[in-house]
Amino acid sequence: MMPLHTRTAAARIARQLSLAAAVLLAAGIMARAQDEAPEDYPPGDGRDGAFYACTACHGFKLVAAQGMSRVQWDATINLMTSKHGMPALEGRDREVVLNYLEAAFPPRAVPSRGFQNPFIK
Ligand code: HEC
Repeated sequence: MMPLHTRTAAARIARQLSLAAAVLLAAGIMARAQDEAPEDYPPGDGRDGAFYACTACHGFKLVAAQGMSRVQWDATINLMTSKHGMPALEGRDREVVLNYLEAAFPPRAVPSRGFQNPFIK
């Protein structure tokens, strides 16, 4: 059995180490979001425009994780403006961004019911 003061010192060091690890982890996540580039995403007209319009506040990964119809993307852009204060995207700029989002991140196919042979893609 360790003397009490040794154990509390060990606990303090362990706590400081886990705090340091948490700080490093958070810094790493934030750095990674900054490291994104348009080239990380499917090629297409308007990719750069969409990327820079949407990454002012969050990673493009958040955008690319969605699959939506044009109407839904349009509503999402409205939501970013009304709820989160994104500068309104209008006219040609909006067209360009919408064209890209619609082409690159369409609604995902709904899996059909019934048996799916996992070896046939
Ligand atoms: C002015 C800041 C800002 C800009 C610019 C912005 N967003 Fe967002 N967006 C947010 C915030 C804040 C959230 C919610 C918090 C989060 O998850 O980071 C969010 C969340 C999202 C989500 C997830 C919604 C959900 O229900 O989880 C999507 C999709 C999205 N944004 C799409 C876009 C697209 C597409 C663009 C570019 C046209 C864009 N955003 C530009 C602020 C912004």
